[in-house]
Amino acid sequence: MDNSLRDSGQAAIARCVSAVMRSRHAVRAFKPRPLDRKLVEDVLQDAAAAPSGANIQPWRVYVVTGTVKEALADALLAASRAGSVPAPAHFPDPLPDVFRARLQDFGARYYESLGIDRTDAAARLRQSERNLSFFGAPVGLLFTIDRRLKSHSWIDLGLFAQNVMIAAKARGIDTCPQVSFAPFHEVIATQLQLEPCEVTAFGMSMGYGNPHAPVNQVAMPRERVRDFARLVGFPEEHAGR
Ligand SMILES: Cc1cc2nc3c(=O)[nH]c(=O)nc-3n(C[C@H](O)[C@H](O)[C@H](O)COP(=O)(O)O)c2cc1C
Repeated sequence: MDNSLRDSGQAAIARCVSAVMRSRHAVRAFKPRPLDRKLVEDVLQDAAAAPSGANIQPWRVYVVTGTVKEALADALLAASRAGSVPAPAHFPDPLPDVFRARLQDFGARYYESLGIDRTDAAARLRQSERNLSFFGAPVGLLFTIDRRLKSHSWIDLGLFAQNVMIAAKARGIDTCPQVSFAPFHEVIATQLQLEPCEVTAFGMSMGYGNPHAPVNQVAMPRERVRDFARLVGFPEEHAGR
Protein backbone atom coordinates (compact mmCIF):
# COMPACT_ATOMS: atom_id res chain seq x y z
CA MET A 1 0.00 0.00 0.00
CA ASP A 2 1.08 3.56 -0.69
CA ASN A 3 3.01 5.00 2.31
CA SER A 4 0.84 8.11 2.36
CA LEU A 5 -2.20 5.91 3.12
CA ARG A 6 -0.70 3.44 5.59
CA ASP A 7 -1.01 5.42 8.82
CA SER A 8 -4.27 7.22 8.43
CA GLY A 9 -8.00 6.77 8.15
CA GLN A 10 -7.39 7.49 4.50
CA ALA A 11 -6.43 3.83 4.07
CA ALA A 12 -9.87 2.70 5.19
CA ILE A 13 -11.50 5.14 2.79
CA ALA A 14 -9.31 3.91 -0.07
CA ARG A 15 -10.23 0.28 0.69
CA CYS A 16 -13.89 1.19 0.83
CA VAL A 17 -13.89 3.12 -2.45
CA SER A 18 -11.82 0.41 -4.12
CA ALA A 19 -14.26 -2.27 -2.93
CA VAL A 20 -17.23 -0.33 -4.28
CA MET A 21 -15.56 0.33 -7.63
CA ARG A 22 -14.45 -3.28 -8.06
CA SER A 23 -17.79 -4.76 -7.02
CA ARG A 24 -19.77 -2.75 -9.57
CA HIS A 25 -20.75 -4.91 -12.50
CA ALA A 26 -23.31 -4.54 -15.23
CA VAL A 27 -26.41 -6.22 -13.79
CA ARG A 28 -29.06 -7.54 -16.18
CA ALA A 29 -31.53 -9.37 -13.92
CA PHE A 30 -33.24 -7.63 -11.02
CA LYS A 31 -35.39 -8.36 -8.00
CA PRO A 32 -38.88 -6.78 -8.17
CA ARG A 33 -38.10 -4.74 -5.00
CA PRO A 34 -38.86 -1.07 -5.74
CA LEU A 35 -36.41 1.78 -5.20
CA ASP A 36 -37.25 4.57 -2.83
CA ARG A 37 -37.45 8.00 -4.49
CA LYS A 38 -35.26 9.62 -1.80
CA LEU A 39 -32.57 6.99 -2.36
CA VAL A 40 -32.51 7.74 -6.08
CA GLU A 41 -32.35 11.48 -5.40
CA ASP A 42 -29.43 10.95 -3.00
CA VAL A 43 -27.58 8.91 -5.63
CA LEU A 44 -28.11 11.64 -8.22
CA GLN A 45 -27.04 14.41 -5.84
CA ASP A 46 -23.81 12.52 -5.08
CA ALA A 47 -23.28 11.93 -8.80
CA ALA A 48 -23.63 15.66 -9.47
CA ALA A 49 -20.32 16.10 -7.67
CA ALA A 50 -18.77 14.91 -10.95
CA PRO A 51 -16.33 17.33 -12.57
CA SER A 52 -17.23 18.99 -15.85
CA GLY A 53 -15.26 21.24 -18.15
CA ALA A 54 -15.66 24.82 -16.83
CA ASN A 55 -18.31 23.36 -14.48
CA ILE A 56 -21.02 23.57 -17.15
CA GLN A 57 -22.69 20.39 -15.74
CA PRO A 58 -24.20 19.34 -19.07
CA TRP A 59 -26.00 16.24 -17.74
CA ARG A 60 -29.76 15.79 -17.80
CA VAL A 61 -31.32 12.60 -16.54
CA TYR A 62 -34.89 11.30 -16.67
CA VAL A 63 -35.77 8.72 -14.05
CA VAL A 64 -38.75 6.51 -14.80
CA THR A 65 -40.57 3.89 -12.79
CA GLY A 66 -43.99 2.23 -12.58
CA THR A 67 -46.47 2.79 -15.39
CA VAL A 68 -44.34 5.54 -16.99
CA LYS A 69 -41.43 3.11 -17.35
CA GLU A 70 -43.73 0.42 -18.68
CA ALA A 71 -45.31 2.75 -21.26
CA LEU A 72 -41.85 3.81 -22.41
CA ALA A 73 -40.67 0.20 -22.66
CA ASP A 74 -43.81 -0.73 -24.65
CA ALA A 75 -43.24 2.16 -27.07
CA LEU A 76 -39.57 1.24 -27.50
CA LEU A 77 -40.35 -2.40 -28.13
CA ALA A 78 -43.07 -1.49 -30.64
CA ALA A 79 -40.64 0.79 -32.50
CA SER A 80 -38.00 -1.92 -32.49
CA ARG A 81 -40.38 -4.54 -33.86
CA ALA A 82 -41.75 -2.13 -36.46
CA GLY A 83 -38.21 -1.73 -37.77
CA SER A 84 -38.62 2.04 -37.60
CA VAL A 85 -35.33 2.58 -35.80
CA PRO A 86 -32.04 2.63 -37.68
CA ALA A 87 -29.71 -0.29 -36.96
CA PRO A 88 -27.34 0.76 -34.19
CA ALA A 89 -23.77 1.49 -35.16
CA HIS A 90 -22.07 1.97 -31.82
CA PHE A 91 -18.68 0.91 -33.11
CA PRO A 92 -16.80 1.66 -36.33
CA ASP A 93 -16.65 -1.01 -39.00
CA PRO A 94 -14.07 -2.42 -39.19
CA LEU A 95 -13.36 -2.38 -35.48
CA PRO A 96 -9.60 -2.45 -34.83
CA ASP A 97 -8.45 -6.01 -33.97
CA VAL A 98 -7.58 -5.34 -30.33
CA PHE A 99 -11.10 -4.08 -29.62
CA ARG A 100 -12.79 -6.71 -31.79
CA ALA A 101 -11.08 -9.44 -29.75
CA ARG A 102 -12.44 -8.00 -26.49
CA LEU A 103 -15.91 -7.51 -28.00
CA GLN A 104 -15.97 -11.15 -29.13
CA ASP A 105 -14.80 -12.28 -25.71
CA PHE A 106 -17.63 -10.26 -24.14
CA GLY A 107 -20.17 -11.82 -26.51
CA ALA A 108 -18.96 -15.34 -25.78
CA ARG A 109 -19.16 -14.90 -21.99
CA TYR A 110 -22.47 -13.03 -22.13
CA TYR A 111 -24.38 -15.44 -24.35
CA GLU A 112 -22.92 -18.49 -22.61
CA SER A 113 -24.24 -17.18 -19.27
CA LEU A 114 -27.68 -16.92 -20.86
CA GLY A 115 -27.51 -20.34 -22.50
CA ILE A 116 -27.85 -18.69 -25.91
CA ASP A 117 -26.05 -20.18 -28.89
CA ARG A 118 -24.26 -17.34 -30.66
CA THR A 119 -25.70 -18.53 -33.98
CA ASP A 120 -29.28 -18.30 -32.64
CA ALA A 121 -30.23 -14.89 -34.04
CA ALA A 122 -33.81 -15.04 -32.72
CA ALA A 123 -32.69 -15.70 -29.13
CA ARG A 124 -30.08 -12.97 -29.37
CA LEU A 125 -32.69 -10.53 -30.63
CA ARG A 126 -35.02 -11.41 -27.72
CA GLN A 127 -32.19 -10.79 -25.26
CA SER A 128 -31.29 -7.55 -27.01
CA GLU A 129 -34.91 -6.41 -26.68
CA ARG A 130 -34.68 -6.91 -22.91
CA ASN A 131 -32.51 -3.80 -22.89
CA LEU A 132 -35.59 -1.79 -23.79
CA SER A 133 -37.50 -2.87 -20.67
CA PHE A 134 -34.48 -2.08 -18.48
CA PHE A 135 -33.93 -5.82 -17.93
CA GLY A 136 -36.89 -5.78 -15.52
CA ALA A 137 -35.29 -3.23 -13.19
CA PRO A 138 -37.72 -1.16 -11.09
CA VAL A 139 -36.10 2.10 -12.23
CA GLY A 140 -34.80 3.26 -15.59
CA LEU A 141 -32.68 6.30 -16.33
CA LEU A 142 -32.26 8.13 -19.62
CA PHE A 143 -29.26 10.43 -19.91
CA THR A 144 -29.50 13.31 -22.34
CA ILE A 145 -27.23 16.14 -23.34
CA ASP A 146 -27.67 19.36 -25.29
CA ARG A 147 -26.97 18.39 -28.90
CA ARG A 148 -25.13 21.69 -29.50
CA LEU A 149 -22.33 20.64 -27.16
CA LYS A 150 -19.14 18.99 -28.41
CA SER A 151 -17.61 15.60 -27.57
CA HIS A 152 -15.67 17.29 -24.76
CA SER A 153 -18.94 17.68 -22.83
CA TRP A 154 -19.99 14.08 -23.52
CA ILE A 155 -16.98 13.14 -21.39
CA ASP A 156 -18.62 15.06 -18.53
CA LEU A 157 -21.82 13.09 -19.04
CA GLY A 158 -19.87 9.82 -18.86
CA LEU A 159 -18.18 10.89 -15.64
CA PHE A 160 -21.57 11.75 -14.19
CA ALA A 161 -22.95 8.36 -15.20
CA GLN A 162 -20.02 6.54 -13.59
CA ASN A 163 -20.68 8.53 -10.41
CA VAL A 164 -24.33 7.42 -10.56
CA MET A 165 -23.25 3.78 -10.73
CA ILE A 166 -20.72 4.11 -7.90
CA ALA A 167 -23.07 6.10 -5.66
CA ALA A 168 -25.73 3.46 -6.30
CA LYS A 169 -23.39 0.54 -5.64
CA ALA A 170 -22.25 2.13 -2.37
CA ARG A 171 -25.91 1.85 -1.31
CA GLY A 172 -26.23 -1.77 -2.46
CA ILE A 173 -28.02 -0.79 -5.68
CA ASP A 174 -27.04 -2.30 -9.03
CA THR A 175 -27.00 -0.77 -12.48
CA CYS A 176 -26.41 -1.49 -16.13
CA PRO A 177 -25.37 1.35 -18.45
CA GLN A 178 -27.05 0.93 -21.86
CA VAL A 179 -26.19 2.58 -25.13
CA SER A 180 -29.01 0.47 -26.62
CA PHE A 181 -31.40 3.34 -25.95
CA ALA A 182 -29.53 5.85 -28.09
CA PRO A 183 -30.99 4.82 -31.48
CA PHE A 184 -34.48 5.26 -29.99
CA HIS A 185 -34.08 8.96 -29.29
CA GLU A 186 -37.22 9.97 -31.23
CA VAL A 187 -39.41 7.55 -29.26
CA ILE A 188 -37.88 8.65 -25.96
CA ALA A 189 -38.23 12.32 -26.88
CA THR A 190 -41.93 11.84 -27.56
CA GLN A 191 -42.63 9.73 -24.48
CA LEU A 192 -40.70 11.92 -22.04
CA GLN A 193 -41.34 15.24 -23.79
CA LEU A 194 -37.68 16.13 -24.16
CA GLU A 195 -36.70 19.59 -25.28
CA PRO A 196 -35.73 19.87 -28.98
CA CYS A 197 -32.11 20.64 -28.07
CA GLU A 198 -31.73 17.39 -26.13
CA VAL A 199 -30.34 14.15 -27.51
CA THR A 200 -30.47 10.78 -25.75
CA ALA A 201 -26.92 9.56 -25.07
CA PHE A 202 -27.65 6.32 -23.23
CA GLY A 203 -29.85 4.76 -20.59
CA MET A 204 -29.36 2.78 -17.42
CA SER A 205 -31.19 0.08 -15.50
CA MET A 206 -31.20 0.47 -11.71
CA GLY A 207 -32.39 -1.76 -8.90
CA TYR A 208 -31.40 -4.60 -6.62
CA GLY A 209 -29.72 -7.28 -8.70
CA ASN A 210 -30.67 -10.94 -8.53
CA PRO A 211 -27.39 -12.51 -7.41
CA HIS A 212 -28.55 -15.98 -8.47
CA ALA A 213 -29.11 -15.11 -12.13
CA PRO A 214 -26.23 -16.61 -14.16
CA VAL A 215 -26.11 -13.47 -16.33
CA ASN A 216 -25.16 -11.51 -13.22
CA GLN A 217 -22.29 -13.84 -12.44
CA VAL A 218 -20.22 -13.13 -15.53
CA ALA A 219 -17.01 -11.35 -14.60
CA MET A 220 -15.63 -9.38 -17.50
CA PRO A 221 -11.82 -9.41 -17.39
CA ARG A 222 -9.73 -6.27 -17.30
CA GLU A 223 -6.28 -5.57 -18.64
CA ARG A 224 -3.43 -5.06 -16.19
CA VAL A 225 -2.02 -1.58 -15.53
CA ARG A 226 1.17 -2.50 -17.37
CA ASP A 227 -0.90 -3.29 -20.48
CA PHE A 228 -2.72 0.04 -20.77
CA ALA A 229 -0.55 2.56 -18.94
CA ARG A 230 3.00 3.73 -19.35
CA LEU A 231 4.50 5.24 -16.23
CA VAL A 232 7.62 7.26 -16.85
CA GLY A 233 10.14 8.80 -14.49
CA PHE A 234 9.26 6.64 -11.48
CA PRO A 235 11.79 4.55 -9.55
CA GLU A 236 11.80 0.95 -10.83
CA GLU A 237 10.44 -0.67 -7.61
CA HIS A 238 6.86 -0.77 -8.96
CA ALA A 239 7.80 -1.95 -12.43
CA GLY A 240 5.89 -4.99 -13.62
CA ARG A 241 2.88 -4.64 -11.29
C1 LIG B 1 -21.38 3.43 -22.46
C2 LIG B 1 -21.78 2.00 -22.19
C3 LIG B 1 -22.80 1.43 -22.90
C4 LIG B 1 -23.22 0.12 -22.63
N1 LIG B 1 -24.31 -0.37 -23.29
C5 LIG B 1 -24.80 -1.57 -22.94
C6 LIG B 1 -26.01 -2.03 -23.49
O1 LIG B 1 -26.64 -1.36 -24.31
N2 LIG B 1 -26.51 -3.22 -23.07
C7 LIG B 1 -25.86 -3.98 -22.14
O2 LIG B 1 -26.36 -5.07 -21.80
N3 LIG B 1 -24.69 -3.58 -21.60
C8 LIG B 1 -24.15 -2.39 -21.96
N4 LIG B 1 -23.01 -1.92 -21.37
C9 LIG B 1 -22.35 -2.72 -20.32
C10 LIG B 1 -21.03 -3.33 -20.81
O3 LIG B 1 -21.25 -4.44 -21.63
C11 LIG B 1 -20.21 -3.72 -19.56
O4 LIG B 1 -19.97 -2.57 -18.78
C12 LIG B 1 -18.88 -4.34 -19.93
O5 LIG B 1 -19.09 -5.57 -20.59
C13 LIG B 1 -17.99 -4.57 -18.70
O6 LIG B 1 -18.66 -5.39 -17.77
P1 LIG B 1 -18.93 -4.91 -16.28
O7 LIG B 1 -19.58 -3.55 -16.34
O8 LIG B 1 -19.87 -5.96 -15.72
O9 LIG B 1 -17.62 -4.88 -15.58
C14 LIG B 1 -22.55 -0.64 -21.65
C15 LIG B 1 -21.48 -0.06 -20.95
C16 LIG B 1 -21.11 1.25 -21.21
C17 LIG B 1 -19.99 1.85 -20.42
